[in-house]
Amino acid sequence: MNDYAPRPEHRFSFGLWTVGWLGVDPFGTATRDPLDPVHTVEKLAELGAWGVSFHDDDLIPFGAADAERASRVDAFRKALDANGLVVPMATTNLFTHPVFKEGALTANDRDIRRFALRKVLRNLDLAAELGAKTYVLWGGREGSESPVAKDIRAALDRYAEALNLLCGYVRERGYDIRFAIEPKPNEPRGDILLPTIGHALAFINELDDSEIVGLNPEVGHEQMAGLSVVHGYAQALWHGKLFHLDLNGQTGPRYDQDFRFGNGDVKSAFLLVDLLEGAGYDGARHFDFKPARTENRDGVWASAAACMRNYLIFAERARAFRADPEVAAALRDSRVDQLAEPTLAPGESLTALRSEELDVDSAARRGAGAERLDQLALEHLFGVR
Ligand code: GCO
Ligand code: MN
Ligand code: MN
Repeated sequence: MNDYAPRPEHRFSFGLWTVGWLGVDPFGTATRDPLDPVHTVEKLAELGAWGVSFHDDDLIPFGAADAERASRVDAFRKALDANGLVVPMATTNLFTHPVFKEGALTANDRDIRRFALRKVLRNLDLAAELGAKTYVLWGGREGSESPVAKDIRAALDRYAEALNLLCGYVRERGYDIRFAIEPKPNEPRGDILLPTIGHALAFINELDDSEIVGLNPEVGHEQMAGLSVVHGYAQALWHGKLFHLDLNGQTGPRYDQDFRFGNGDVKSAFLLVDLLEGAGYDGARHFDFKPARTENRDGVWASAAACMRNYLIFAERARAFRADPEVAAALRDSRVDQLAEPTLAPGESLTALRSEELDVDSAARRGAGAERLDQLALEHLFGVR
């Protein structure tokens, strides 16, 4: 019997800002008190998590003096060691302070861009010190409410310039760190640069050192854009660019709901886990969710535990689905295996292909068998098979 108990080898991680979210929204003030990062580390370890990620400002208040910075980092490091938690990823807060209201790495104001770059560099040093292997760049304020006020092509030049400088810095310092860009279509800006996985992949291809730049896609962000999560993540994998990921829940195109993983579009969550497990994805299973504003502290930890439990339930359901002989037969009937076969055989010529004939009427009459297969997947997800 599977107890769905999370363990470090499952590589579950959480951002300090997730369980630490105070419940502030545009219509209401905080419903919870701040969490001490040391307590968060203890609780996450107790729940069976493997890692914790952070923005610079989650750990060290913006503008803190050097002594305060050192003591906070020291306390955090001691808590990590004492509880056996790792830091798989770190990132920079380039969105909360009003100085970033018009953008950070792509702000029109050059002084602000230079300040933003310094903020990233400083936290990159800390990330390296704490052993993070991934550095996420989420450009929440990189965008506009009106493209009249932002030259988008120039903004992309500045974004690429920043990435090129950061990659150069990491190489020069010898840090074992790769960057992961997190796409999001909107919120907090009316439109954000690099809005989807596809935009970000195309951007990465234009960089000087694209080898160490990949993606940190978030489930809800692709769904905000009305896109298929599984298609998006699968394409990121196909490009070798799924460096990290943000798991959460969303119900269709609307505001960024950041539900706990499993709430929202359950079927996509299940099929995403099936994809990740089947592809042998071995990175962090990182949750970027906001425990509902209705909850108190107990509810926060219950929702964090539920994220991991849901992942393990989906993984177990996916294994059962893949092991079912009826599913294997249905996959063959759907010719899913044929798609892995190159269209032209090795050594075969296009001349040979052109001389071949297809009985189009009979081929057109063949059913795809997709409905039966999808129903089998649902029944495994529902737990009735
Ligand atoms: C959001 C984003 C953020 C980022 C985080 C890491 O929509 O708020 O998902 O939570 O993931 O800032 O860069
Ligand atoms: Mn989000
Ligand atoms: Mn995120």
